Amino acid sequence: MGRLDDKVAVITGAGRGIGREIALLMASEGAKVVVNDLGGNTDGTGTTSIADEVAAEIKSLGGEAASHTESIAEVQGGESLVKTAIDAFGGMDILVNNAGILRDRTIFNMQEADWDAVIAVHLKGHYCCSRPFAKYIRENNRTGCRIINFSSVSGLFGNFGQANYGAAKAGIAGFSSVLALELAKYGCTVNTISPGALTRMTIPLRENRGEKVEDTEIEAGGPQHIAPIVAWLAGEEAASITAEIFHTGRGGISIMQQPRIIKQFNKTDGVWRLDELDAIVPKLLDAIRANVAAADKSAQAIDV
Ligand SMILES: NC(=O)c1ccc[n+]([C@@H]2O[C@H](COP(=O)([O-])OP(=O)(O)OC[C@H]3O[C@@H](n4cnc5c(N)ncnc54)[C@H](O)[C@@H]3O)[C@@H](O)[C@H]2O)c1
Repeated sequence: MGRLDDKVAVITGAGRGIGREIALLMASEGAKVVVNDLGGNTDGTGTTSIADEVAAEIKSLGGEAASHTESIAEVQGGESLVKTAIDAFGGMDILVNNAGILRDRTIFNMQEADWDAVIAVHLKGHYCCSRPFAKYIRENNRTGCRIINFSSVSGLFGNFGQANYGAAKAGIAGFSSVLALELAKYGCTVNTISPGALTRMTIPLRENRGEKVEDTEIEAGGPQHIAPIVAWLAGEEAASITAEIFHTGRGGISIMQQPRIIKQFNKTDGVWRLDELDAIVPKLLDAIRANVAAADKSAQAIDV
């Protein structure tokens, strides 16, 4: 018996990398899987039939799979993706919004096309697939569904040269918080993954710095390390977990702190004067430094 028996899972960008590992693991746990991928280059150009290959691989291993090769960056692609799951397997329970591209440039060199392409695949792509799934959940009162979204430290912490990607990935975290509220009534959880894995998206970044990536490193830090928490969040055990951000990779699994007000002063007699803020702002900064230091201490990894 698998943890995802009788579930129908749709995984975007599942032709390679992290998405492929999620598709294979979910299928091995009994899910019927729709493998979406247009098979493009890392910058979003081009197409190949890798989704068909992963679907065939799942079937050769005894699982059930269908493929879908349209772009999830368009409303039509998201709608036809959900329809593919329903037509092939009679329903849909799990959506993993994983597809992604990169067009790294500093703000000085970033052209409108670089901005638009990255926002379209990541941020709009999450909308394009989540909306038809959410409508399907509501119209059919399908309970116990799961949406698992893909953010990144690039947006959550910031990363040089990735203003387009970081903006999209931070936006995805906000999108997830809202969706978690809107779908709670239907028992659908919405969680976010911040992964770290050696894939064709990240290996060239290392190689561009003159670092050689050995096969043993890929074994220790490849995309297979991301799939388990995604499959776990899709299962029954995670029914009460929603609006969380899990960071994972290389055997590490952690939960992220999310924005909270951690220190507050309240002026009782009118509007703050600027000279009052001279005294108050340093106290707020002291509070955030202490909070970060406490979080960093608590985040020391525990080997298990
Ligand atoms: N690898 C990492 O360390 C890392 C870090 C942070 C975030 N992420 C995120 O994890 C996700 C998976 O990344 P990966 O490393 O496996 O990358 P990858 O390039 O190996 O795989 C991404 C897949 O998405 C597909 N894709 C791109 N645009 C598409 C579209 N419009 N429609 C359908 N499919 C499309 C690509 O063809 C590709 O197969 C991405 O969202 C990425 O931003 C990865």
